[in-house]
Amino acid sequence: MTLLKIAQLGHPVLLEEANSLKPSDIQDAQSLIDDMIETMEDARGVGLAAPQVYRSLRLFVAKRADLGDAMDDHPPFVIINPKLRPLDDACAVGLEGCLSIPGYRALVTRHCKIGYEGLDRHGAPLSGQAEGFFARIIQHEYDHLDGILYPARLENWSDMAADSEADHLMEILQPNDDEPLSQ
Ligand code: NI
Repeated sequence: MTLLKIAQLGHPVLLEEANSLKPSDIQDAQSLIDDMIETMEDARGVGLAAPQVYRSLRLFVAKRADLGDAMDDHPPFVIINPKLRPLDDACAVGLEGCLSIPGYRALVTRHCKIGYEGLDRHGAPLSGQAEGFFARIIQHEYDHLDGILYPARLENWSDMAADSEADHLMEILQPNDDEPLSQ
């Protein structure tokens, strides 16, 4: 496996709508998926989308945050050609960072519960539901496939800060960390 270079804010690949994989592309994508998982783990990220490694393809990998402390004991979540839908109107604010925008984080509003469908890494149909932090990761990574970076989701610049200046953002979250907001 190979560690891949991660595209940084400013590279146009991060702003493109990525291409769906054809069935014939999936076998060729296996080594890319393995390399993306290794790169995500090495960078201590919780998710990585193909455009972040300069491949304009609709696939991403993510830590199994739905498993809590056991997430490191399980293979990461992998989805190809995903489609997402919110399961209700509930949204929550939470802190996000991005491996393509290192050194910063922001309070981002996301749906609390989503359904997803797509293909697993071998091309078999994959569907399920996610909530909380796992749902947040999936929505963040999905956005990468549409060329959307989290700052584009912000209504206020004051919701973004350098890591070294982000304590007040944490305080805003407490004591209602990730609790649903009506929207
Ligand atoms: Ni990101």
